[in-house]
Amino acid sequence: MIRELSKSKSRKIPPRVPEGEAIIDMPELSMEELNEEFKKRMREYRNFVKFILYKLNVKDNSKVLEIGPGPAWITIIMAQENSTLKITGLEISEDMIRVANKNIEAEGVKDQIEFIQGSAEDMHQFDVNSFDVIITHDSLHHWDEPEKIFNEIARVLKPNGIFCIGDGRRDIGLGARLIYNVMKLRLPKEISYYWKTSINAGYTPEEISEILDKTDLKNKYKVIPDLFEILIINKLQ
Ligand SMILES: C[S@@+](CC[C@H](N)C(=O)[O-])C[C@H]1O[C@@H](n2cnc3c(N)ncnc32)[C@H](O)[C@@H]1O
Repeated sequence: MIRELSKSKSRKIPPRVPEGEAIIDMPELSMEELNEEFKKRMREYRNFVKFILYKLNVKDNSKVLEIGPGPAWITIIMAQENSTLKITGLEISEDMIRVANKNIEAEGVKDQIEFIQGSAEDMHQFDVNSFDVIITHDSLHHWDEPEKIFNEIARVLKPNGIFCIGDGRRDIGLGARLIYNVMKLRLPKEISYYWKTSINAGYTPEEISEILDKTDLKNKYKVIPDLFEILIINKLQ
């Protein structure tokens, strides 16, 4: 399933260190403060949205589910880019939903978006074949039981629906590590700490393929490894 074999085979990758699911207010960092850091990633978010809308060919009036939208910048960019889309954000953290609601109001897209609080491990609130598109960005490495979520995605996505799962990878190569070491010097202490823990919680392309093969997405996906990230999309796209 992996389009390009990662170069990780030849070097030792440290074991995965899970990070925990919900991102919530902390004494040293409120979600409003974290939101300011998320805003600095707009270019990355725009590229992700454009890839989904234009390379994966999302149709007008599609019903979109985003898992783990956090402060919802991807949701907002998608809604602004196509005003016919209806987007549901399923987010485990109430603190993130508080910030996300402020952001969609300020950006004038609240009529297109609704947030539901809950874990994507159990999407009982959605019927079979509910969504045309399911996306998630930077959330997979937080999931305690990714198999359950992949099965739920397979259940609530319409036949021929589009999915796109983007997340950081743990087995970053030398080039990415050099970039990381320079960039982290420019970040506030808390943010560079969380960047590191999220890399350590990421999967390698091989690990995530092994997990996907145990789920109802087996034979339906393609893994595309990139410098820092892994993209998982429909096999035929
Ligand atoms: C690192 S943030 C990414 C936010 C946003 N997608 C982005 O890329 O800016 C990960 C988000 O996933 C949420 N999350 C983690 N596990 C989840 C789960 N099982 N179901 C729903 N949301 C989850 C976290 O609370 C957090 O808001």
